[in-house]
Amino acid sequence: MIEVTMKVNGREITRTVPGRRLLVEFLREDLRLTGTHVGCDTSQCGACTVHLNGRSVKSCTVLAAACDGAEVTTIEGITPTEGLHPMQQAFADTHGLQCGYCTPGMIMTALSLVRPGGGMPDREELRELLHGNLCRCTGYQNILAAIEKGAEMMHRGECDA
Ligand code: FES
Ligand code: FES
Repeated sequence: MIEVTMKVNGREITRTVPGRRLLVEFLREDLRLTGTHVGCDTSQCGACTVHLNGRSVKSCTVLAAACDGAEVTTIEGITPTEGLHPMQQAFADTHGLQCGYCTPGMIMTALSLVRPGGGMPDREELRELLHGNLCRCTGYQNILAAIEKGAEMMHRGECDA
């Protein structure tokens, strides 16, 4: 067992974990942050995407023990107490989800693609950059539109993020 201390959604947390515990298991089972989903056991789907030290990662590919001293942000961490983050709102407005299973991971990846100052990759680059996030429902068109709209709303200052 290994003691780890990390900041999760701004809160410092210390726990003892088995060396093989995955970050996604730690978040979902130990911290009950169940907005981070598990959609595969092959590291392909991206439903488990979170931010680790400011970069999007698939949390099923990271050991919790390796996150000692790290900062982790999950979908719960970007959701305001009231209402939605603009990227979440854009997904709702643009029908960027159907069952919603992939959505937390899509949103965490999308947020990592919004450049400081509000710039975004163009549509073709966006398609390429999203290749690690799979959606079984939407056909992706509305997800792309949602991400572009979310980035624009963030740029206009319609959120604190
Ligand atoms: S659960 Fe992590 S990539 Fe599918
Ligand atoms: S909305 Fe169902 S998997 Fe993406």
